[in-house]
Amino acid sequence: VAKQNNNHLGNTLDPSLMDSVKKRKQRAKEEPLCIVVVGASGDLAKKKTFPALFSLYYHDLLPNDFLIVGYARRPMSQEDFRNSIMESLTCRVIDGPQCQQKMDEFLPKCHYMSGMYNKTEDFVRLDQLLNNFEQSFPNTRVDRLYYLAVPSQVFEDVVHHIHYSGRTKRGWNRIVMEKPFGKDTTSYLQLRNSLRNCISEDEIYRIDHYLGKELVQNLMVLRFANYLFEPLWNRDHIASIQIVFKENFGVEGRAGYFDEYGIIRDIMQNHLLQVMALLGMEQPVTLHAEDIRDEKVKFLRCIRPLKASDFVLGQYRDRQNPQRSYLSEPGIVNNSHTPTFAACVFQVNNRRWSGVPFLMKAGKALDERKAEIRIQFQSVPGGLFSQIVSSHLPHNELVIRVQPDEAIYMRILSKAPGFTSRLEEARLNLFYRTAWEDSKDIPDAYERLILDVIHGEKSLFIRDDELEVAWNIFTPALKEMELTQDAWKPILYDYGGRGPVESDYLAAKYGVQWS
Ligand code: NDP
Ligand code: BG6
Repeated sequence: VAKQNNNHLGNTLDPSLMDSVKKRKQRAKEEPLCIVVVGASGDLAKKKTFPALFSLYYHDLLPNDFLIVGYARRPMSQEDFRNSIMESLTCRVIDGPQCQQKMDEFLPKCHYMSGMYNKTEDFVRLDQLLNNFEQSFPNTRVDRLYYLAVPSQVFEDVVHHIHYSGRTKRGWNRIVMEKPFGKDTTSYLQLRNSLRNCISEDEIYRIDHYLGKELVQNLMVLRFANYLFEPLWNRDHIASIQIVFKENFGVEGRAGYFDEYGIIRDIMQNHLLQVMALLGMEQPVTLHAEDIRDEKVKFLRCIRPLKASDFVLGQYRDRQNPQRSYLSEPGIVNNSHTPTFAACVFQVNNRRWSGVPFLMKAGKALDERKAEIRIQFQSVPGGLFSQIVSSHLPHNELVIRVQPDEAIYMRILSKAPGFTSRLEEARLNLFYRTAWEDSKDIPDAYERLILDVIHGEKSLFIRDDELEVAWNIFTPALKEMELTQDAWKPILYDYGGRGPVESDYLAAKYGVQWS
């Protein structure tokens, strides 16, 4: 049934739009492409970028001819590089010999080059390698995609060098940049202005992979393609909204990046704020990238900038195995105050949301891996059931589980079956695994987004003004925390636990229990 509905919706799209999208995709398949992953020695490249590229190859979605170059400072042989990539490649749909065969075809197309991020001669060497590939296709366009899987302090150097010695004149040049873009409003604006001398807004793809996650993509459909939710989606009916990100592992070798940024910049200012914008914005005029991004910006501008006192900060430690504590990670600065956990509350000053707290929590090394949204409705007025239920009736909740095990469900009250008149909490469930036969085929967010870059489709990427507003919300709190570091020392919490209990007190002030 789900599949039929899907086809039905597909057929209602504007035919001329479908035609142009089809042509664009066809062209992208035929044009040879060079992909350079800058920061190829790192965690993101290994865990997400290369597996996504492989999966696109496996599903025959990459161009017919392509070359992938991993670039980073660390010296590494081709063999070690390919082995390190191979460890994390998987076939989402079919495993077994066919998968191995695809990997054997894919890996020789991946090359490693060691080079500095600020040395012209290294980028000239890189350009020569790409030119050699291009020369095998004398009469066609050849495109270049640079994927910057490095912290943003390196962007400026890399982009300048790409501009002076890494552009192709034979096709498009697109540069994907990972979040967080800068560290606060000022550094973001500096970075933006400096990059503007080298690349146009058209060529930049600011990625936030949460926008590519299936359930995040479904938020607009849930809200605007159903009659049911929108009339309730406001301060008259909603008591609170929580957006939670938890990971059950620590920083694990990413000190070089993480200690400079911390959890607020790593997760809240981008992934969770994007989710919040999709939950809170008004309906866009159309589904075009610019209209959606306009609505997100309008909503973000209504959020009251945060103060340090809106936060609870934490840092994990492991009392049983001190080597796993944050401060014992190789590369972490002595006595670092970088938070690995944060919880905070937002207020939105507009007619729809005034007075509804948006609670956000993000933490590493907690008890489970989960990303979830909980929309809690107001309590039912009147006391019709007071003879049966001694306390207040629990609130209805709409839960959107982004990961793992994608699901949307409503927590409602129901009469327990049988002669009893007891009320029980029950769920109206949409579990993707059981609702859709092909749900195991949900592409990873990075597959979808990298494919969008190749097709030149920008709606899931962040626009520059959106980012400026996002930084404006967090910058006052971040500055305050930096200036009065001792006052904002993170509270230590146990590895594998629920995080500092102070975050529960914060939620309790708003009548909320964290999920
Ligand atoms: P890493 O710490 O693994 O850094 C990636 C590579 O960048 C390293 O291998 C290193 O390469 C280089 N590098 C690291 N720190 C510095 C530094 N201070 N100065 C110069 N080069 C440095 O981080 P990740 O790969 O995890 O993250 C990279 C970016 O991707 C970040 O912006 C992060 O927010 C983003 N990201 C990460 C995700 C993940 O799951 N890891 C998911 C989504 C986004 P070398 O020393 O060899 O040059
Ligand atoms: C990245 C962060 O943006 O997202 C990482 O830099 C985090 O710290 C990762 O681990 C989580 O992504 P996902 O898709 O596994 O939830």
